[in-house]
Amino acid sequence: MTTAAVRTTSAAAIRSLRRDELAQVFELCQRCFDIAYTWDHLETYRCRARDGFLVATDGDDIVGVVVAIGTRLPWLLGRAGEIALLGVDARHRSRGLGRKLLRAAVEYLRSRGMREARLHVDVGNRVAIALYESAGMYTSHVVKGYYRNGNDALRMVGKL
Ligand SMILES: CC(C)(COP(=O)(O)OP(=O)(O)OC[C@H]1O[C@@H](n2cnc3c(N)ncnc32)[C@H](O)[C@@H]1OP(=O)(O)O)[C@@H](O)C(=O)NCCC(=O)NCCS
Repeated sequence: MTTAAVRTTSAAAIRSLRRDELAQVFELCQRCFDIAYTWDHLETYRCRARDGFLVATDGDDIVGVVVAIGTRLPWLLGRAGEIALLGVDARHRSRGLGRKLLRAAVEYLRSRGMREARLHVDVGNRVAIALYESAGMYTSHVVKGYYRNGNDALRMVGKL
């Protein structure tokens, strides 16, 4: 996957989530996604991703989030990591932040020994698909009815 040449005008800093910040991320997710993430979803991601639960901050505000989950025992369970969630606050979009978060997720997965990143994206999400393809990801297959609203997903894969 391509991680160089990030064009960004966003000054947001990216770092791992702090324990007391999950509520802010929950609110951000309610604003970002058509399908609401529940608190349980986010708690599960926090447990599974650990330091790979990354947020972009603008001052005290969380303005973006990405969740990268590497396998715990790569030599046993394989070296394919999951990018489970990526979202940027609508007021901060189209300034390079989504790409910056994706790059941070990729770097995290590499640091955990992953050799591949995988994700699901709604077949109609042209902005996100364009972002992933421009980062070198490709569609592996379509998953029919993957989302709770019945929409199909693309299963996308990128070599790290
Ligand atoms: C997808 C999302 C994370 C992109 O974040 P962003 O900060 O706006 O993205 P960037 O500014 O880094 O742009 C990255 C690429 O996305 C695409 N893109 C961004 N804004 C776009 C727009 N308004 N129209 C079309 N493509 C756009 C372009 O390919 C862009 O690359 P380029 O600038 O080299 O042309 C953001 O739109 C979002 O949070 N959407 C709602 C949640 C979501 O759909 N998440 C993905 C779930 S899999």
